[in-house]
Order: sequence, then structure tokens, then C-alpha cells
Amino acid sequence: MKIGIVGSGYVGTTIAACFADLGHEVMNVDVDDAVVTALNDGQAPVSEPGLDDRLGRYAGETLFATTEYADLVDFAPDAVFLALPTPATEDGSIDTAIIEAGAESLGEVLVDIEGYPTVVVKSTVVPGTTEDTIGPILERESGGQIGVDFGLAVNPEFLREGSAVADFTDPDKLVFGTADDDRAREALEAVYAPLTDEADVPIVHTGRREAELIKYANNAFLAAKVSLINELGNICKEYGVDAYEVANAIGLDDRIGEQFLRSGVGWGGSCFPKDVNAIVAAAREAGYDPQLLQAAIDVNDRQPERMLELMDDHVDVEGKRVAVLGLAFKPGTDDIRNSRAIPIIEGLQARGAEVIAYDPNDGAQSAMRERFPDVTYLASASPTLSGAHAALIVTDWPEFGDLDLEFDLMSNSVVVDGRRVVDRREGITYEGLTW
Ligand code: UDX
Repeated sequence: MKIGIVGSGYVGTTIAACFADLGHEVMNVDVDDAVVTALNDGQAPVSEPGLDDRLGRYAGETLFATTEYADLVDFAPDAVFLALPTPATEDGSIDTAIIEAGAESLGEVLVDIEGYPTVVVKSTVVPGTTEDTIGPILERESGGQIGVDFGLAVNPEFLREGSAVADFTDPDKLVFGTADDDRAREALEAVYAPLTDEADVPIVHTGRREAELIKYANNAFLAAKVSLINELGNICKEYGVDAYEVANAIGLDDRIGEQFLRSGVGWGGSCFPKDVNAIVAAAREAGYDPQLLQAAIDVNDRQPERMLELMDDHVDVEGKRVAVLGLAFKPGTDDIRNSRAIPIIEGLQARGAEVIAYDPNDGAQSAMRERFPDVTYLASASPTLSGAHAALIVTDWPEFGDLDLEFDLMSNSVVVDGRRVVDRREGITYEGLTW
């Protein structure tokens, strides 16, 4: 198959490399020259395990990148995926300006693409966006008609940062929102056939807005599950009970499941905060007020302050050195978007502390330096802890679990662990956020 992909961020680059790995010919379209050059050089513009070696294998062979939508005409793709950002606006609602602009540019060339190309919305968009916004733009700009001249489908992604390639190659499901368009359904089935022929992957055939909602429901449910275990963990803390002992027990109930029961300082990243806020705003717009999802957001927002209050119980950090260990929103990534380290650093600065920070990922460290230039960033945990009056563990990097004698370098060894990664021991004043 020939596959066009508009957008080369985490999702666009991952699916480009993985579609090429399935044996398809791929053309990425991106407005950013530097991204296009990197892709054609086989370099991933984002850091994901397994991405560079796939790009290196196919770039210039069966995978090409361009800044020109018009190049799609000669390429003549069977399907074109829209993998463009759908960021949050100030009030948390979705901003579709970028994907609308992408649909406009694609629409202008769509009529010249031979055959029956299927436009596939891969981006996360609130229910109704594909049919009520993107579809009309494509028809207006192309002069063509959905279901006659081209197909329109929704195929949401469920890729986690740090394991995006693995999640693509071993999905728990595929969702094809093609409504009653058989040619669009057949196109998506052909795209993923090299994967589904090899493994028994459940395929959900559904409508376009159903597919849009499945994506939000998936993320909202996972985020709410973490906020629920965080709330139960906060209750455990009041009783001196270890939330992880409780979580391990309830996880044995297969109606609950053992995953996503790690209570701590909460969820961050580019998806949970954006998606949960977007579906809450969209639901309100549609006439329903999602109280439980709003509560999941509120519980999540309060976890960093709870961590700082535990620190306050043991030390007044005004004018004192405080170590922050972990800046990325989760281990295995360089991404600091909505990292819990951001409100932690803000809270420390509001208390007048001198903040020293360390993250094993250089990319995360340099990104945080841009955000907080007056924080001191060091190259390892030991100097970060040396002379500190408190240490806050914010990201569960495995190397933090090996720290032990390094805490003796602290002036006042108050350690507040937000991710249950450091062992409590004699000689340090240890506080677990929910244990
Ligand atoms: C998530 C979804 O998992 C993925 O399916 C979707 O496509 C994109 O959003 P991601 O944001 O990369 O993926 O990270 P994930 O591993 O899901 O963790 C999300 C956040 O929840 C992280 O901040 C993590 O620290 C936190 N988390 C996760 C917990 O606090 N406790 C847990 O038990 C699990």
C-alpha cells in the first residue's frame, strides 16, 4: 500500500516508521523543514526506542518526507493519515486550528490523487470533529464528495510515550471508524493486514464519532483510575496504611486489574491532561457536566501540593537547598509536558527554597532549564543531594531506587517519595506520599 502521513510528531513519525516496517511505501508531509530533513536522513525528530533503527532502514528507500502536499499527487496514496497536534486552549477545550489547516491543504490536492484515497484522522479529536469539521473542509477544498471521490475514517492511536513502537506492533485493539464506507474499511484493513495476519488483534468496526469517543474514553478511564487510587492512597496515608499493600490486594479482582494502581504524585504527559480536559469541556458544550472526570482532574492537581505539605511537616525550606530528583513526566522519556515536577518546582520557589534538580534524561533536563532557568541542574543524584535540606522524588527512574548512602550527603535528610521508588531506611526522615 501507499500511505501518506500529514504531521511528524510522536505519532506521525512512529506510524511512518512502523507502516514502512509493515512493507508499505510511506510519504510524510510536514511544514517543518528540519523535521523533513531529519526524517530523510533516517533521524527521528522525537526520542522513542526502536524508532531510529526503523527510520534508518527505510528512509530514502520506502519512506520519504516532504514539505509539499502536492508531492502526494504523484505518490498517489491509498490512504492519508492526519497525525497533527490538537493542543488545549486556555480553558482546556480542544484547539483544532492545526488539523483544520492540514485538512485544508490536503483537500486542495485530494481531487488530483487518483483512485479512491481514504483520509484517516489519527489525531485525537472530540466527538463530531471528523464529520462536522474535517469532512466539510475536505469536500469544500477538493470539490469532491465523501463516499464518492474519497473515503473518511477515524483510526485513533493508543501509543504510550517510551513504548510507542512496541504499542504499535503489539496493539490490544484496532479501532476503525469508517461508518458505512466499505472502501474506507477495506483500505484500513489492508493497511494493517501485515500486522493482523500475524497476530490475533481485535478490530473494532464502528462509526466515526464512536471511534473518536473510544479514544477519549480510553484515556479518561485510565486517568480516572489513577486519580481514584491516588484518592484511596491519600485515605491510606491518614490511617498509616500502605496504599500499595491495598492496591496489590484489590488488583487481584479481575474487574479492577492490577495495572494503573501505582498511587503517587499523579499523571502528566501530553495526553492525559489534554484529553481529559478536552472531553470535559466538550461534554459541557454538549450539555452534560462530567463531575467525576472533573474530580479526577482536581485530585490529580492536588497531589504535588500534598507532597510539598509532607515536606513542610518536617522542614521549613525558605532559603534552604532542596533537591528535585526526576523532571520527565515519566521514566523512559525526555518529555516534560505537564510533568508533576513543574508544580513541585513552582511550589518550592513559592516557599523561597533554592532548587537543585537532576533527571537522567538530558533532553528532559534541558527542556526544564528553558522553563525554569533559575534552577540549578546537575549531572547526577549525588551532587544534587549534597547539602540539601530536603529531597523530592518526582519521577520513578529506576536509578533512584539504588540511592542509599547518597542521602547521607544531605544536610537534613528529609526524603519525600512521590513515586515509591526509594526504600525507607534508618538515618533518613522518609515520607511516602501514600504509604
Ligand atoms: C497515555 C496512554 O496510556 C496511551 O494509551 C495514550 O495513547 C497516550 O496517553 P502516556 O501518556 O505516554 O500514554 O503515559 P502512561 O504510561 O499512560 O502514563 C500516564 C501518566 O500516568 C504518567 O504521568 C504516569 O506517571 C502516570 N501513572 C501511570 C501513574 O501515576 N500511576 C500508574 O499506575 C500509571
